[in-house]
Amino acid sequence: MKILGIESSCDETGVAIYDGNTHSILSESLYSQVGLHTKFGGVVPELASRDHVLRLLPLIRKTLDLSSLKESSIDGIAYTAGPGLRGSLLVGAALSKSLSMAWKVPSIGINHMEAHLLVNLLEEEAPKFPFLTLLISGGHCLLIKANKVGSYEVLGQTLDDAVGESFDKVARLLKLPYPGGPQIEELAHLGDPKAIKFPRPMTNDKQLDFSFSGLKTAVFYTLKKEKNITAAFKANLAASFQEAVAETLLIKCKWAIEATRLDHLVIGGGVAANSYIRNRLIKGLSGSKIFFPPMSRCTDNGSMIAYAGYLRLELGESELQKIIVRPKWDLSEI
Ligand code: KG4
Ligand code: ZN
Repeated sequence: MKILGIESSCDETGVAIYDGNTHSILSESLYSQVGLHTKFGGVVPELASRDHVLRLLPLIRKTLDLSSLKESSIDGIAYTAGPGLRGSLLVGAALSKSLSMAWKVPSIGINHMEAHLLVNLLEEEAPKFPFLTLLISGGHCLLIKANKVGSYEVLGQTLDDAVGESFDKVARLLKLPYPGGPQIEELAHLGDPKAIKFPRPMTNDKQLDFSFSGLKTAVFYTLKKEKNITAAFKANLAASFQEAVAETLLIKCKWAIEATRLDHLVIGGGVAANSYIRNRLIKGLSGSKIFFPPMSRCTDNGSMIAYAGYLRLELGESELQKIIVRPKWDLSEI
């Protein structure tokens, strides 16, 4: 079974083809809208959806050509149905339903966070169910117990800002361009992570929820108080903020491992591309087996949607030709 996957929930247009026979991605293409949104300092939803309209069909053609496949070889279509930006989701959903009718194959709407979680199963060394997952993206921060495909327990989540969101907001305070995560990571290379002691939010008692907005506020006041904002000070601030995030995530992961006695932990979502956080978690959780997707599959991509779609269609799931998207879609409601 060959599944075409379409990701259009935010500012990346991703397309890929997954082949169930070889358990591999045959081809994948990605168009990032970063250049479009940078001058606004963040994603402009209306511009994002219009750009998905322009990019999707050429990207699907390119992805088919890359694998030398014809449309008739595709057995099903998977698209992101939520969570995400309503207009952007609708573009992917409407196109998928149209292609599904034209090609006479089933289509299926996928939960974007479930796809971030499942993408790790594509790797040669894959986690075994049940396993823990830490999803750290621009919109979410979730600790999940994954029992099997389609069965997830949310153990903890952020009460306010997501991890990626806090990186983006701190980057904005430092006048760095969007998206801020990679910019902060680069700047932090030049700084000392111990220079400024920022709070490790919600680590006083052993609960698994997160809160990152206070940390961002602490960065704001540190910056405001400083009379001499030099390049070295900015680098120290970025490194210390990144360390505060890494240590907070590490503490919560340790507690989740302790509470569930699961020793396979999958890290996913855009912030999982941060090498400092990766290394901090690998070193700090040396008694457990930690799984990361390859860098290109940490951030949004079509491969994770194609693979999640395959798993769901294989389970016999189908849906009506009604277009439904869910800008807010809790993983526990699947
Ligand atoms: O998973 P993703 O591509 O989109 C969502 O589903 O939100 O994650 C995007 C987020 C952005 O906030 C971006 O700043 C952050 O991931 N990000 C990073 C890094 N690369 C991307 N944050 C920290 N360090 C990075 N290297
Ligand atoms: Zn994502």
